[in-house]
Amino acid sequence: MNIESIKTLQEKLSELIGISGYEDDVSKFILNLIKEEQLADKAWIDQLGNVLAVVNGKQNEDRILLDAHIDEIGFLISHVDKEGFLRFAPIGGWDVRILLGQPVVIRSETGKLYNGIIGSKPPHLTTVAERKKLVAIKDMYIDIGMFSKEEVERQGIKMGTTGTLSCPFLDFPNDMVRGKAFDDRTGCNVLIQIMRILKEKPVNDTILFNFAVQEEIGCRGAITGAFTLKPTIAIAIENTTAADVPGIKDHEIPAYIGKGPAITIADNSIICSSKVNERLIKNAELAKVPYQMKRPLYGGTDAGKIHISRDGVPSSVVSVPCRYIHSPTSLLKLDDILHTVELIDAFIRNSANIKI
Ligand code: CO
Repeated sequence: MNIESIKTLQEKLSELIGISGYEDDVSKFILNLIKEEQLADKAWIDQLGNVLAVVNGKQNEDRILLDAHIDEIGFLISHVDKEGFLRFAPIGGWDVRILLGQPVVIRSETGKLYNGIIGSKPPHLTTVAERKKLVAIKDMYIDIGMFSKEEVERQGIKMGTTGTLSCPFLDFPNDMVRGKAFDDRTGCNVLIQIMRILKEKPVNDTILFNFAVQEEIGCRGAITGAFTLKPTIAIAIENTTAADVPGIKDHEIPAYIGKGPAITIADNSIICSSKVNERLIKNAELAKVPYQMKRPLYGGTDAGKIHISRDGVPSSVVSVPCRYIHSPTSLLKLDDILHTVELIDAFIRNSANIKI
């Protein structure tokens, strides 16, 4: 594992389209990769769409679940106007302020991709008062360059068709990359890198993987995945807001770019197990992996559901800091992903010998 292999996989995962409930392109890609590289003893897609995998341990002591969600926020077409404009309903938590003027990509019934632009009433035709107000999604439309409802529907685009904001993967200075859906294809990348390491260097505990669907609309895949896999310990690998940008006071910043994986103490969905966190921190220190603590209490993750699965699962969250999540373009530093893989690897090997 190196920065290059992390980057190659990050680009592939990020460019797949899979909004909540429509993750098939992503789940097929991940299952194929696991099978081709023979990364697990068992891997399958469950009834809800999660990709589940098991790597048996040498002694099969604990069952450690690593969870990352494969869905991304997007939208469903809710109506096609007779002039060919599309109306849409957001899926997941969009920042409405940044939607206007954005390029989007629509996936037709046959899987063909169409480009579009989110528009609204042009500025020349609005009053000063109107321009000061936030435009509601119901007053926006998507223009895909077609002129009638019939023309649109002939392409297999109709009510229920999905799409998302489009954003090509790009290099930035300092090993930073920009792209779409880093939340949480980054976590999927970490899980696959861990599987690759496990293939070379097995561990004692059994490691379970859930590439989970439908996180953005209520962590639904995490519920069924944890039920099936019956973990005794769990970690959700996420992308978290690195709001280390102008206008945010130091005490309000959840996490920083470039300071390594962020370990959650608590968020709105979980009070993380202090035992799991102790095992993370002691092993990070022993392996000299940089880490930071995420400032409570922002957000919620799959761990919120996993820790209350069955009779309870000691759980925590480890996140790769990322700027501008839930916007069209996310920005992160590749070595934060590398250090997250190193931290999870140190955790499952547990050289610090912390019992949970
Ligand atoms: Co996420």
